[in-house]
Amino acid sequence: MAESFDFDVMADRQVDHARKWDEKIIQSKFPGTPHDFIPMWIADMDFPAAPCVRDALVRVAENGAYGYTSAHDGFYEAVINWQRRRHGCEVKRDWITLSYGCVSTFHYLYQAFCQPNDCVILNTPVYDPFGYAARHNGVRVVSNPLVYRNRTYTIDFDLLDAQMAVEHPRIYLLCSPHNPAGRVWSTSELVQAAELCARHHVLLVVDEVHSEHVFEGEFTSALRLPERYLDNLVVLTSPNKGFNLGGLKTSYSMIPNSEIRRVFRHRLEMNSITSPNVFGCAAIIAAYNEGEEWLDAVTEYLGESYRQLAAFVDERMAGWEIMPMTASYLPWVNVSGTGHDAGEITRHMAHEAGVIIEDGSHYVANGEQFVRLNVGMPRHLVTECLERMANHQLVG
Ligand SMILES: Cc1ncc(COP(=O)(O)O)c(C=O)c1O
Repeated sequence: MAESFDFDVMADRQVDHARKWDEKIIQSKFPGTPHDFIPMWIADMDFPAAPCVRDALVRVAENGAYGYTSAHDGFYEAVINWQRRRHGCEVKRDWITLSYGCVSTFHYLYQAFCQPNDCVILNTPVYDPFGYAARHNGVRVVSNPLVYRNRTYTIDFDLLDAQMAVEHPRIYLLCSPHNPAGRVWSTSELVQAAELCARHHVLLVVDEVHSEHVFEGEFTSALRLPERYLDNLVVLTSPNKGFNLGGLKTSYSMIPNSEIRRVFRHRLEMNSITSPNVFGCAAIIAAYNEGEEWLDAVTEYLGESYRQLAAFVDERMAGWEIMPMTASYLPWVNVSGTGHDAGEITRHMAHEAGVIIEDGSHYVANGEQFVRLNVGMPRHLVTECLERMANHQLVG
């Protein structure tokens, strides 16, 4: 019998000291925010994790042994089966390397494949750690602005071709599905990107973290590209968005080419990224082996919250234009029609409405006219945020 899950109930976010709900952090960002604020900013969800994940963590916690562990057979089997079942990818065990979160892995990738002053190309706006990981390592960011038209983003492949020819980047880091906006790239877009990388000898790195919540269209993993592209590919992912496990700091990469793998693993070893987190490993295995029903249910819930939010924004928020979101739980809204930029809108909403939303200008580049919302919370809170924002609009 199908299990039922109640996403109208939230976890107690004081217990995990969630940054998202931390009043000190919020007051330092937005002084004067009312105490009854509701956070729609940091990208995690307020629901309790899947029961199978909680059971697995309780088992480890109650057993009482938290010593050094290893990425054992159970971890590799869980990843291989998950990638096959959910994404149609045939991943070989050798390709998989566990690491401590995708964000720290961006840093190791830049360290492994770039020298200071080399560059990476990013489609902007994009998840800000893509950019700051480069900056932390002396790597220049070349921005390939996404083209915004008819409420959607497309990649300017002619510009990308020209930039690769002139700038000779080491890495092209693609977010698939894209954050922000939850845009699922088509197979032909992925092929175009892979073809340009092959032609210009640029390493293709694809972050697939947002591939677990897809509402519309079909997500294609880069691992399903034609064989000839697999030799120039690094795929990064984790269950951290899908299953809401970001605080466990566990992720993995899949790298078909043995030389690229060797260089990457050497960098991990130089930083002692070896023995995994004992809870992170247990959680991935439980999520992948037993969490599918929960994931489908939460995806449905998020999809419905998003549809309600999109309808509300269209009807009630003057000057706000929401982008159709086909993946993730982070709606992206063009606020240029209000006559104010994202910074002004986010400050105003924090102060006046007590709703904390994300300023799109944090997204490396080209995000100044956008704000990002988060529907990863019980629906009544989404509704309350919307009502508060509608009652405190900043227009003209
Ligand atoms: C595109 C993208 N990659 C990676 C992450 C975080 O991944 P991890 O928790 O594995 O560091 C996020 C989190 O929002 C993200 O949006």
